Amino acid sequence: MTDTKKIALVTGANKGIGLEITRQLAEAGVTVLMGARDVARGEAAARELSEAGLAVEAIEVDLNREETIPAAAKAILARYGRLDILVNNAGIVDAEDGPPSVATVDAARRLMETNFLGTLAVTQAMLPLLIKSSAGRIVNLATTLGSLSVNGDPSSPYYEARLIGYNASKAALNMLTVQLAAELKGTSIVVNSVAPGYVKTDLTGGNGYMTPAEGARLPVQYALLGDDAVSGQFVAPEGPVAW
Ligand SMILES: NC(=O)c1ccc[n+]([C@@H]2O[C@H](COP(=O)([O-])OP(=O)(O)OC[C@H]3O[C@@H](n4cnc5c(N)ncnc54)[C@H](OP(=O)(O)O)[C@@H]3O)[C@@H](O)[C@H]2O)c1
Repeated sequence: MTDTKKIALVTGANKGIGLEITRQLAEAGVTVLMGARDVARGEAAARELSEAGLAVEAIEVDLNREETIPAAAKAILARYGRLDILVNNAGIVDAEDGPPSVATVDAARRLMETNFLGTLAVTQAMLPLLIKSSAGRIVNLATTLGSLSVNGDPSSPYYEARLIGYNASKAALNMLTVQLAAELKGTSIVVNSVAPGYVKTDLTGGNGYMTPAEGARLPVQYALLGDDAVSGQFVAPEGPVAW
């Protein structure tokens, strides 16, 4: 008998928004593989959800150690034969980031390495598995700060949030969404950029106006889009965002 339960991979699932995306997907009946760069912390997070009766398991995925990525794809293929949902959630900020005149180049490099290049590597490795799904869904965790339009709009509340490394890495991630959506046109795979809102996590130093559970809602909604799903969108809780 074919297993009809959907299979998801969420990167950076051991805490923050990724942990809550995992919880909500699993509560919706999805089997969730919890990507974590620290396997022990991934397993601890998975244990907590398993004890609550949810179908989750930890898997090593470190966006900065590329050998872990094909290894994860191989393990998922061997165990499940496909992947239905990829949530590219893992991401970082950097203390040496800032306006273009002062941010360190090393910080910008670290941000691009993780938020863009690492995510690109995960996406490439998982595509052959997503193609085996009847309706693959890719959700890229975006931010309004990655919008070129917003960064250039003096009337925007985000206009002063000048973090050249973080914002550029997330603009690059948006480019992945746009180009991949175009490349996958005519397939059953849908890819979107989803900004969660301003969420109280370690990444924001506990600042924000949403809990991680609230921040997980829109990404989960886009991970579970049905047959009429539209690909290549950039959305936030307030609605569509200009690229
Ligand atoms: N919070 C917000 O307001 C907000 C707004 C817009 C977008 N976002 C985006 O939402 C996503 C989740 O953010 P969050 O607020 O939940 O942050 P968080 O609490 O700091 O969690 C980030 C997660 O990413 C993981 N991670 C970092 N680098 C990694 C790597 N090299 N390989 C694998 N995993 C890695 C972290 O693992 P460790 O525990 O090992 O560090 C952690 O699990 C990010 O992409 C962020 O840019 C957040």
